[in-house]
Amino acid sequence: NSNSQRFLQCFSSNINSNPSSKIILTKNSPAYFSVLQSSIQNLRFLNNSTRKPLAIVTPFQYSHVQAAVKCSKKEGIQIRSRSGGHDYEGLSYVSKTSFIIIDLFNLRSIDIEIENESAWVESGATLGELYYAIAQKSKVYGFPAGTCPTIGVGGHISGGGHGTMFRKYGLAADNVLDAKIVDVNGRVLDRKSMGDELFWAIRGGGGSSFGVILAWKLRLVPVPATVTVYSEARTIEQGATKLIFKWQAIADRIPEEYVLRLVFQVANGAGTNDGKTIQVIFNFVFLESVEKLLPWMQENFPELSLDKTKFNEMSWIESVLYISGIPRNESETLLQRTQQSKGFFKAKSDYVTEPISEAGLEGLWERLLQLEIFQLILTPFGGIMSEVSDSEIPFPHRKGTLFEIQYLVSWGVDKETEKHIGSMKMLYEYMTPYVSKSPRAAYLNYRDLDLGTNINGNTSYAQASIWGLRYFKNNFRRLVHVKTLVDPENFFRNEQSIPVLQSGE
Ligand code: FDA
Repeated sequence: NSNSQRFLQCFSSNINSNPSSKIILTKNSPAYFSVLQSSIQNLRFLNNSTRKPLAIVTPFQYSHVQAAVKCSKKEGIQIRSRSGGHDYEGLSYVSKTSFIIIDLFNLRSIDIEIENESAWVESGATLGELYYAIAQKSKVYGFPAGTCPTIGVGGHISGGGHGTMFRKYGLAADNVLDAKIVDVNGRVLDRKSMGDELFWAIRGGGGSSFGVILAWKLRLVPVPATVTVYSEARTIEQGATKLIFKWQAIADRIPEEYVLRLVFQVANGAGTNDGKTIQVIFNFVFLESVEKLLPWMQENFPELSLDKTKFNEMSWIESVLYISGIPRNESETLLQRTQQSKGFFKAKSDYVTEPISEAGLEGLWERLLQLEIFQLILTPFGGIMSEVSDSEIPFPHRKGTLFEIQYLVSWGVDKETEKHIGSMKMLYEYMTPYVSKSPRAAYLNYRDLDLGTNINGNTSYAQASIWGLRYFKNNFRRLVHVKTLVDPENFFRNEQSIPVLQSGE
């Protein structure tokens, strides 16, 4: 159609390099569908009825991003920025109105400076590429971000980002030193030129409301030469309920060098009614050697007797591989940008501030046993997360949070979508009395459109607060102010973008 033709002409005349056909893919380009699909993680959004972008811009230079922003603004075409494509609701590649995707996978250089304990990383790099690049330079530095190697740094860091080191070093977004962004006027801004407010907003408030993030300058953190990992599985028949109850009492008080996550999943259960049970995996990563851990566990959590033969000592990068289920000697796997297996899924999140009673856990087992494939991941907070102020960056879930729950239900065929989304709603409903209230908080990086959505281009502060307060609590208002300042016409928008203040609000 004509505005997409005009967009293409505008883009070609605004870039220096030719031919533009290498940078911009239209539906006639042979690579269009393979590039579109390449980083889609959730098959719910890969079907014929999902609206496809007018074009996919794959910038090699910052000027290509600038041209794409200027021309789409001129033609009134929406932009979806995509780095790793892991958005749980597909917001980096799905839109209800005419749109282009700016897919940043060609902009993924990583420049590690061990002597300054920092790195410049372009948005299209994945966490796996970042971790690999750090380990190539040093065995005693790392970066505290998520555990899945195919996540893109562009989306992940702009939404917070946590993994096995966040109790000691904070979120990925807490460790950003500088950033480069293309704003709504097509200018490239850095920390100094974007100013404190915008720099605050993009570290946890989500990048997509404010512009296109090109790169982050990150603070690298020291890691010990030896890290210890350990996994122990217990079923409910083996006393998991009591152990979890005890875990809740100590999880946020564990020394900050340790993360003791729990993963709940279905398992075969001999002697149970229909051969199914719930298995709880106690998943530890210690940024220390075993000798220091054992006395602490003995004193504080003796109920979980640890099997010393199962301790695994390794380098930090090997622990990254271990957590991702990659064999120890296959670190190159971190460079693979797409996941081996993809499925349909729906996820949600909660924050827990008071221990869940044993009766509450037993009711949860009943609900979980009705599901097919699911995972619940319980991530303990505390450590440095309790020391950083709630308003330091937009991510507000700090002091007082015992742990975060991520609920994930997955399935294999499209026609089962409605059924599984229904089961997820049932599970979330059941958890209401046991989790944070007023607001019932949620994690932006586990995006959930059930929390509420904008009305395209015209959402009031009150309407957007329905979902906004849940992700950002008291930081939401400030995010709306920053948005109003930097993008007053609300060009960068999606179903859950930060709205612009309207007159009188
Ligand atoms: P994607 O490209 O889909 O972008 C996500 C959002 O950010 C979209 O709104 C997009 O428009 C915007 N965006 C992306 N790049 C941008 C840019 N350059 N400029 C402006 N806006 C941009 N989280 C966590 O904290 N810890 C973890 O361990 C995990 N693990 C995990 C495993 C798996 C399998 C999945 C699918 C997801 C996670 N996550 C996670 C959640 C993850 O952090 C979240 O989905 C991130 O937003 C993904 O960032 P991507 O760049 O990959 O996504």
